[in-house]
Amino acid sequence: MLYRAHLLSPEAPARLKDIPDGGLLVDGEGRIVDAGPFEAVAAAHPGAEVLDLRPHWILPGLVDLHSHLPQYECVALDGLELLPWLETHIFPAEARFRDPEVAAAAARLYFRHQLAVGTTTSVAYLTVHQEAADRAFREAERSGIRAILGKVMMDRHTPPALLEATDASLAQSEELCATWHGRDRGRLQYAFTPRFAPVCSMELMKGLSLAAQRHGAYIQTHLSENLGEIDRVRELFPEARDYTDVYASAGMLGPRTLLGHCIHLDRSERDVIRESGATMVHCPRSNAFIKSGIMPLRRWLSEGISVGLASDVGGGPSLDMWGEMAMACNASKLRWAGQRIQARRLEELEGLDAALRSRLAEALDLEAEEPVDPALAFHLATLHSARALGLEAVIGSLDAGKDADFMVVDPSRVDPAETRAILRPDEVLSRLMYRSDPAMVRAAYVRGKRCHALEA
Ligand code: GUN
Ligand code: ZN
Repeated sequence: MLYRAHLLSPEAPARLKDIPDGGLLVDGEGRIVDAGPFEAVAAAHPGAEVLDLRPHWILPGLVDLHSHLPQYECVALDGLELLPWLETHIFPAEARFRDPEVAAAAARLYFRHQLAVGTTTSVAYLTVHQEAADRAFREAERSGIRAILGKVMMDRHTPPALLEATDASLAQSEELCATWHGRDRGRLQYAFTPRFAPVCSMELMKGLSLAAQRHGAYIQTHLSENLGEIDRVRELFPEARDYTDVYASAGMLGPRTLLGHCIHLDRSERDVIRESGATMVHCPRSNAFIKSGIMPLRRWLSEGISVGLASDVGGGPSLDMWGEMAMACNASKLRWAGQRIQARRLEELEGLDAALRSRLAEALDLEAEEPVDPALAFHLATLHSARALGLEAVIGSLDAGKDADFMVVDPSRVDPAETRAILRPDEVLSRLMYRSDPAMVRAAYVRGKRCHALEA
């Protein structure tokens, strides 16, 4: 099928490929055969059946690199920081997944809602329940979405309803991995999912690292999201140099490791993460919501660290990655403004000698990076996250040879006054992010198969 539409795609390292009258040719296997100006693609492939989608746009499907499927039912309950929020809202919700029917119904809704906002790759945490995890995989398989999922692992300091024995946790995770990792030519994959160090024994973390290596599977966990969490890790692992060192000692860090949040990390921890090839997953709406802080995204990127973007539902309020891109921009602007205001106050403070002034500026982290712009946010939700998964050759942009994971978007839906102004592509992205609305995503395709379509 040859789709005719306005094509907009990220191009490495930081450009946008914009083709106002474009053609995207997809073969019967769901692979992109050609992408370029419509006339050229049509001429090179005479006889291809054309589906004219103008005036809509085609963009690559989005990647949500970290979310919690069982938490969808308790999003947006405000007031608490991470540890009490987990105890109060999250653990009781996750305990309900003991019932596989609850899990199956939740998964069906979850993947449908992700596809409806243009997310075609879902990387998600499940719960500790093996049967529930199996049902979630089955729903992902049926929905057509690309998914990397994992049964949560927690073998200590956990409420009784969710506590597992170490051996059982490892055995069940490995069984799920053996069943699902690589299913449907790799559309479904497995991520070993130790929740975070405060609820995992070293024995569990070492065991799952070996299992993940054996299977070539992913590892996903949380790292340095909240100051209370970091204190807890220091108490529980007094022998570790820092939080990152706990995961490094367990052998958990490598190019297939996804580390959620990564807000409060010193230089040596960042160096360890960069050298391991692991990815930091930015969850800006969650970071604001549970009062965790602002990840210095530009700085982490400038140090050569792999960074992707995610909704972190239920820390984040919805599965809409467009809203997440907007928050990545806004959070970085708030950080930038805050640093400039503090720097001005320091400048105006009298009676400090130069050495003390410079020590204060460093300790207070007053060096402002440029805020994130919509084009970078779009790259994060597409190519960067694809690369973080080692899937850069498969998804993340509209390029020949990749799988046809894409969405059809109608930007006129977010044009506030129906002005139909001609905007630059980065301005269109800006509108889509800041004014995102489910009505703007007309359809979503994975491997050329339509998995979501908005009624006209
Ligand atoms: N750290 C450990 N578990 C969680 C979780 O479910 N959500 C978030 N945001 N952080 C966590
Ligand atoms: Zn999370």
